Amino acid sequence: MLLCIPNVLTANEVAKLVEQLQSADCWEEGRRTAGAVAAQVKHNRQWMDGVQTGLSDFVLNKVQNNPEFISATLPKTILPPKFNAYTGGEHYGLHVDSALMHHPVLNESMRCDISATLFLCNPESYEGGELQIETPFGAQSIKLEAGSLVLYPSSSLHQVTPVTQGQRLASFFWIQSRVQDESVRASLYDLDQTIQVLRSLPTVPQEECLRLTGVYHNLLRRWVA
Ligand code: NI
Repeated sequence: MLLCIPNVLTANEVAKLVEQLQSADCWEEGRRTAGAVAAQVKHNRQWMDGVQTGLSDFVLNKVQNNPEFISATLPKTILPPKFNAYTGGEHYGLHVDSALMHHPVLNESMRCDISATLFLCNPESYEGGELQIETPFGAQSIKLEAGSLVLYPSSSLHQVTPVTQGQRLASFFWIQSRVQDESVRASLYDLDQTIQVLRSLPTVPQEECLRLTGVYHNLLRRWVA
């Protein structure tokens, strides 16, 4: 499932984050943290100390309090968000994210089910920098408003096209879901979102809505690990 969630951060929150990211020279070569194969195609820069500066926790706190994010990912573990920058033709060629990554706080490895990119610059402020994700329905090109997030399966081949003008800043991270099977997770998300819409209607058949909510939780109980 490829899902875009708008307005995860407000414009003010984006501005504060970008100001902090640009205020110090804490950027290193992105390829340092890539696997051997991905490192050959990774040409960007990464912020070195997202965890120490609290920027990671800020993003983490925002997504953990976003009901749509929780519904779509059913997170067990979230890797502390990192930050990257692309400018002057920088790009990240076609690659697949590692299945296992080391969680620096828990000091253990986690399985990466879902990849997330949180856009921090408005799309009109830079040229290129599309996140292109291969899906069963063809490649999807994603370039969102600042503060909006895209989720996609970590198993997908994807790339970031060259940024030929301006600068593209983003936060990115991975999620291990409590529901590993992607199709089951997508169905649970659909069901949950439908229930939320039904519950928001002015006249709702209470008992049926309650039963449907019960079905959701019983399916979740069946699949969660
Ligand atoms: Ni990637």
